[in-house]
Amino acid sequence: MDDFSYTNGRLHAEGVPVDKIASKVGTPTFVYSSATLLGHYRRLAEAFAPVDPAICFAVKSCGNPEICRLVAGAGAGFDVVSVGELERVWLSGAPMSGVVFAGVGKRRDEMLAALDGRYSPLAKSGVKVNGLGPEGRGPIGLFNVESEQELEVLEDAAREVGVVASATLRVNPDVDARTHRHTTTGKRENKFGIDLARAPAAFDRFGDSPHLNLRGLHMHLGSPIYSPDPYTEALERILVRIDEIERNGHRVDRLNIGGGIGADYETGSTPSYASYAERIVPMLLPLVGRGVKILMEPGRTLIANAGVLLVRVEYVKETSGGRFVVCDAGMNALIRPALYDAFHFVWPVRVGEGQAPTRRSKKPEGPGLVPSHVVGPVCESADAFIRDWPMPPVERGDLLAVFSAGAYGMSMASTYNDHPLPAEVLVDKDSWRTIRARQSVAAMLLGPEACGPQPAEATA
Ligand SMILES: Cc1ncc(COP(=O)(O)O)c(C=O)c1O
Repeated sequence: MDDFSYTNGRLHAEGVPVDKIASKVGTPTFVYSSATLLGHYRRLAEAFAPVDPAICFAVKSCGNPEICRLVAGAGAGFDVVSVGELERVWLSGAPMSGVVFAGVGKRRDEMLAALDGRYSPLAKSGVKVNGLGPEGRGPIGLFNVESEQELEVLEDAAREVGVVASATLRVNPDVDARTHRHTTTGKRENKFGIDLARAPAAFDRFGDSPHLNLRGLHMHLGSPIYSPDPYTEALERILVRIDEIERNGHRVDRLNIGGGIGADYETGSTPSYASYAERIVPMLLPLVGRGVKILMEPGRTLIANAGVLLVRVEYVKETSGGRFVVCDAGMNALIRPALYDAFHFVWPVRVGEGQAPTRRSKKPEGPGLVPSHVVGPVCESADAFIRDWPMPPVERGDLLAVFSAGAYGMSMASTYNDHPLPAEVLVDKDSWRTIRARQSVAAMLLGPEACGPQPAEATA
């Protein structure tokens, strides 16, 4: 279970009543719980401890530098998919050696920045982390390369910089992750990776490159994945190819099993990591025994239930189509329901006697619940958090919490319809602080420079 719960009819994040946060910071605001995030990280690391994986937090799931700092402090590295995410990690103060760079369309300039900080887009900005600019920060740990052509470009970029780029080859094992069609990435019709059968030939071609160190394979099957089966199916196929690659005379010392482990959007807990580990770990142990380093790239499972989105009710209107609760944010802050029909439990932050949810079921029951469509202000009919949703009655000005919003919430938020980006707050026991100030309309329209000093994202 996460660390968001009702005490005396008031939703708390750890020890902090969230309405207190909203009254100071306003809405929409993402509120994260440090305890939940670190608890998930610790449990995942414990479950997979027998193979001692490098756990690379998927920055795309929630890239706030303070969140990155928190997971880095727990021992995580990072999975990035753009130079922007790469620079975010650098700004958080984490070492580049713990970064893996995935992504199907990496540009050459992004590769250069990942190989050498002199090519960083921040190199001329004067920004410093721990007193140092990006120059001299060293190359990232690994590239997850997605095609032979990308290997050529990476080899060329590494030659220009005068370094050897470490890489794994992202393979497409053609395995169904049994998740939403938009978030399935390991089937052959998906754009990701190269056909698994072609991997040995790629090693033959690039294995002796003086500027590439092709070290192993990478897979990422999709997200969220609620069973170990897709992982074991894919691994069965991949292990056969690793043997073939090694028989052909190449050394394999890295295997990245990607991210994708689910988060339980109904109970607020994670799936049992042990249930994944007990099937996956035995398949990896022989590799570990012969010196292969295992990597993982979890995002959602760590951060989804570590965050809620607070929104305020602007209007309640009854129409012949139902009761619409119109909030001050919607798909601009959290696009998952509109994009993937994703379920997020929504509930008032303050509730009457007996109305605190006992579990975040898809079919809430209890006294006095009123079916409502909880929608946002955006001019799209897709802009709804949830429809036909039995919820305690609310009024203009009330606060609502959209649960399990930590992953792919803020990182996918937009300024569509010119709504500024939400604020982000991090709670730690009884204290809290703003880790990203709400974007002002002036900053959104004119750029941060037009608005004087901005909250320092870069003070590692
Ligand atoms: C290459 C790669 N690794 C890791 C992840 C993280 O997935 P999740 O947040 O489900 O763990 C993604 C998500 O898109 C991805 O594309």
